[in-house]
Amino acid sequence: MQLFPSPPLALLALSATVARAQELLSFRSRPDLQPLKWIVAKEPTENYHDGYYMTCPWSTDVPQPAPAIYTSKGDLVWTDPEVGMCFDLDVQNLNGTDVLTFWNGTVNPFSRYGIGQAYIMDSTYAVTHVLATTFNDTCDLHEFTIPKVTNSTALLPVYWPVQADLSDYGGTEDGWVLYNFFQEIDIATGEIVFEWNFRINSIDKDTSGNYLVSSGHTQALYYIDGTDGEIIWKLGGKNSSFTFGLNATFYGQQDARFVDGPTVVSMHVGEATTGQTTERGLSLLLNTTTMEATMLVEFLPLTPYTSTSQGSLRYDPDGNVVFGGGTNPWISEYLPNGTMIYSAALGGEGLVDSLIENYRSLKTTTWIGYPQTAPDIAFNGSTVWASWNGATEVAEWEILTGAHPSILRPVAVVPKDGFETEITIDSAKYARARAYDAWGAVLGQSHVLDANSTIVSTDGQYLKRSEIDGRVVQK
Ligand SMILES: *[C@@H]1O[C@H](CO)[C@@H](O)[C@H](O)[C@H]1NC(C)=O
Ligand SMILES: *[C@@H]1O[C@H](CO)[C@@H](O)[C@H](O)[C@H]1NC(C)=O
Ligand SMILES: *[C@@H]1O[C@H](CO)[C@@H](O)[C@H](O)[C@H]1NC(C)=O
Ligand SMILES: *[C@@H]1O[C@H](CO)[C@@H](O)[C@H](O)[C@H]1NC(C)=O
Ligand SMILES: *[C@@H]1O[C@H](CO)[C@@H](O)[C@H](O)[C@H]1NC(C)=O
Ligand SMILES: *[C@@H]1O[C@H](CO)[C@@H](O)[C@H](O)[C@H]1NC(C)=O
Ligand SMILES: *[C@@H]1O[C@H](CO)[C@@H](O)[C@H](O)[C@H]1NC(C)=O
Ligand SMILES: *[C@@H]1O[C@H](CO)[C@@H](O)[C@H](O)[C@H]1NC(C)=O
Ligand SMILES: *[C@@H]1O[C@H](CO)[C@@H](O)[C@H](O)[C@H]1NC(C)=O
Ligand SMILES: *[C@@H]1O[C@H](CO)[C@@H](O)[C@H](O)[C@H]1NC(C)=O
Repeated sequence: MQLFPSPPLALLALSATVARAQELLSFRSRPDLQPLKWIVAKEPTENYHDGYYMTCPWSTDVPQPAPAIYTSKGDLVWTDPEVGMCFDLDVQNLNGTDVLTFWNGTVNPFSRYGIGQAYIMDSTYAVTHVLATTFNDTCDLHEFTIPKVTNSTALLPVYWPVQADLSDYGGTEDGWVLYNFFQEIDIATGEIVFEWNFRINSIDKDTSGNYLVSSGHTQALYYIDGTDGEIIWKLGGKNSSFTFGLNATFYGQQDARFVDGPTVVSMHVGEATTGQTTERGLSLLLNTTTMEATMLVEFLPLTPYTSTSQGSLRYDPDGNVVFGGGTNPWISEYLPNGTMIYSAALGGEGLVDSLIENYRSLKTTTWIGYPQTAPDIAFNGSTVWASWNGATEVAEWEILTGAHPSILRPVAVVPKDGFETEITIDSAKYARARAYDAWGAVLGQSHVLDANSTIVSTDGQYLKRSEIDGRVVQK
């Protein structure tokens, strides 16, 4: 018999309050890190492929805005508070090599455009390129795509307020307008390959060399000729080139992409449209003969919410689809037919209505990170906590202890268990941890710490990737 069929009201109110607080992760070996907790709400089901989710949580309530990568289990893989607030964290292909890309800078609090730069990091998390448009050496936060059709250029937008006479438009003579355009620039030379003017929130480039541009302002997508900049068609908004089938209309769209040539287009739709009470992912089939747009499939979040800004939807190379909730904490993954196969909440399931903001949530199945730092440990005499921010290839931790910092012997080998592995050992005065990959090669070792976690020997180190690929087995 159920004793308490429904919880008392006071309890309900309390749990609502608790659910709205930011849930954080904390680590003994990295007390400086305060990333948001990743809460798995729906475990991976059939056809799920392991990978990492890339996020840039921010808002006044996020204690440490920073890029953050997580596994589907909710383990942190990498964060970097020194980068600070970012947008658009992604793994992209630059001339055949995986690179980590993001935007960093300042956000205009009123108009929500950004003044910053686009960063590229290599597999060691070292910044290799800082990119911007020719407009004051800045770019806006809404897009940083290296199109797959080049793998060597960057699509970067700019927003800039300029003073203008708006008297013809019912405004003042000394009004302000937001000037907006994008440039495609060559990453190696900074040379401009293409330039186009409009109000933009996403840009993509297809195999025919044309661009798909999304404008939140006009609630429409534009297909732009890559040679002369002419508008080939306009989808949505006033004077749409297409008519819409059942449930195919959209407002408040973000992250518009071509899925399969210029006939299927996908997007995140934040606002409720006719018959909808939730933000959703949407993919539309475009018939350029009949000029009709029909709904192919929609991707619905676990819990229905509308989103006032931000959000993402991506078809990944494995065919699955990843949805990011923008001003809601949900990140979900789907089969191409719309069946949800995974869902998680960043920072807490109750953090709706902009308590957390996360412009895009993207997934990589290929990223490999070799940080150029030593592994970190904490030690209290009988327990070691080992971690290595950004190191994706650690399979095992070996613990070495002893009565003297320079005479340490292996006492334990344990499989890596999440971002920070806790290892209980026989009590000892000094300890260090050594990281091994799945082939038994040493990747690096921590400094030696005493039982108060004070560093007593600063010989911690990482091995260079070339040394690791030589795979000197030392265990
Ligand atoms: C990101 O921008 C902030 C503010 O402009 C700055 O303090 C920080 O150093 C930048 N991060 C990087 C990696 O340049
Ligand atoms: C660059 O920034 C300055 C102010 O910081 C502004 O006066 C100028 O108009 C901007 N634009 C260009 C193209 O230089
Ligand atoms: C760019 O890289 C992707 C892999 O991410 C590959 O499929 C594509 O063919 C590459 N494009 C070019 C132009 O090399
Ligand atoms: C990409 O490859 C092209 C062709 O080899 C080369 O010209 C360019 O410098 C490379 N870009 C970068 C950023 O390495
Ligand atoms: C509407 O679009 C058509 C082409 O689709 C174009 O010829 C016409 O000028 C447009 N009208 C307005 C008011 O933009
Ligand atoms: C289309 O929207 C209507 C409400 O307007 C809803 O009842 C119906 O289930 C939707 N159809 C699909 C295929 O989503
Ligand atoms: C477009 O619609 C026409 C008429 O219904 C149809 O014959 C044609 O196959 C459609 N094209 C595509 C690409 O679906
Ligand atoms: C979606 O695809 C999966 C795998 O093929 C299948 O099991 C499921 O029944 C499909 N769902 C719908 C609604 O078609
Ligand atoms: C070390 O930490 C572990 C785990 O919190 C605890 O059980 C143990 O008592 C601690 N040992 C000392 C010597 O403080
Ligand atoms: C740890 O610190 C305490 C208090 O400062 C000290 O008494 C003790 O000797 C230290 N232990 C080690 C192993 O250094």
